[in-house]
Amino acid sequence: MSDPSRDTAAWTRDHAAGLSRTDRNTAPIIYPPDRRTDPDNHLWDTWLLRTPAGEIADVDGYRVVVALTASNDLLPGKRHDVATHRFYYSTDGRNWTPGGCVFGDSVPLGSRQWAGSAIYDPETGDVSLYYTAAGHRGEDALSYTQRLAVAHGGSARTTADGVRFEGPWTHKTLARPDGEWYEREEQSRGMIYTFRDPWYFEDPETDEAYLLFEGNTPIPEGSKACGGDPEQQAFNGSVGIARASKTDPTACELLPPLVDAVCVNQELERPHVVYRDGTYYLFVASHRHTFAPGIDGYDALYGFAADALFGPYEPLNGSGLVLTNPANAPFQAYSWLAYGHCEEILVTSFLNYLDYDRPSLDDVAYLPEDEQFRRFGGTLAPTVRLGVDGLDTRVRGTLDHGHLPTAEEALPETEDERIARLRGADGDEERPGYGAR
Ligand code: FRU
Repeated sequence: MSDPSRDTAAWTRDHAAGLSRTDRNTAPIIYPPDRRTDPDNHLWDTWLLRTPAGEIADVDGYRVVVALTASNDLLPGKRHDVATHRFYYSTDGRNWTPGGCVFGDSVPLGSRQWAGSAIYDPETGDVSLYYTAAGHRGEDALSYTQRLAVAHGGSARTTADGVRFEGPWTHKTLARPDGEWYEREEQSRGMIYTFRDPWYFEDPETDEAYLLFEGNTPIPEGSKACGGDPEQQAFNGSVGIARASKTDPTACELLPPLVDAVCVNQELERPHVVYRDGTYYLFVASHRHTFAPGIDGYDALYGFAADALFGPYEPLNGSGLVLTNPANAPFQAYSWLAYGHCEEILVTSFLNYLDYDRPSLDDVAYLPEDEQFRRFGGTLAPTVRLGVDGLDTRVRGTLDHGHLPTAEEALPETEDERIARLRGADGDEERPGYGAR
């Protein structure tokens, strides 16, 4: 068994002082796609159906994604209040067919279901879907209580028409915050607390199963953290971890967090790990408006690396910044999810607010409603290709909207490679001015 007794690694204000948009971490501007992933629904946080070892699942020739969705009649900002898991399947990883709701309307946990992960057993077709139960089923006024939950007992099957999920599902609450390692709702002093986004991960080095999740570190009144400044202490995001089981999807034992961002950032969203040649790359998504006062951050994918699952983790690229939006479209994409592809890491996300460059996403609500609809994407974004070298990453280019290749599929030559080839040079040199805006 690996030993989780160690100090939680800190993402510090010193690290965050180095956050800066460069060619290496900035995605190109995105234009809306010709065809939306789902013509009827907004789609945002999305995750691939994977095998327990983390590969993209092959369901009789189909790959599958699960996404948070809401009817596209709904004002985009209200979508979190009604989030529903829908799934999409594809034979080529480019064209996605809506498969409908994963569970129908019979989810007993939560008034809505937020992000998670989905694991497919290639032998049996069984699926375990880990998710966030937010609020309580049937509540009159929306509450923001969050629990880690799982639905198990169902499976993914193919028919002549495509893929369907079959129940019956058994839903179970896996964990609530303990108040010691993970802040409870009533301990929270700032913006909405977090205890969500369970991500199943089997450690290839120890063969043990874990759930990563988003949490907050409790900061007692009178704490000396960041010079005792209570305003900054209200920002206390963490990456949590729990011991899970390879055979029992309902097993879950909380362990101390892997990383926290006390006095730095309130939300380390959708944590997940990509393992590569002995290095654990830990990624989270976060927002500009969830950084503590005095830190200029971005809506971006942030990352850390360690040579063991339990760390100690160091921020990638010095500051932690891996991938952000260009300055003239700073909120164009969000909720990035990385996965390994041969030598690269591929990053999928959804189109958030295009054609919008106010200082904060909070200001979206001041736009007229028709403008809120017009500017919201709600569909899969172009996949971004990252090169990785130890603690350094860089944007290599992009694939089409929603293109999610498996490891068996070769990627096209990047623009840099093409230019280098035409110049007769050998490959990976950088093209000045690419990326940053
Ligand atoms: C990130 C996120 C997740 C959460 C979901 C709710 O986009 O905040 O952490 O599960 O959105 O819609």
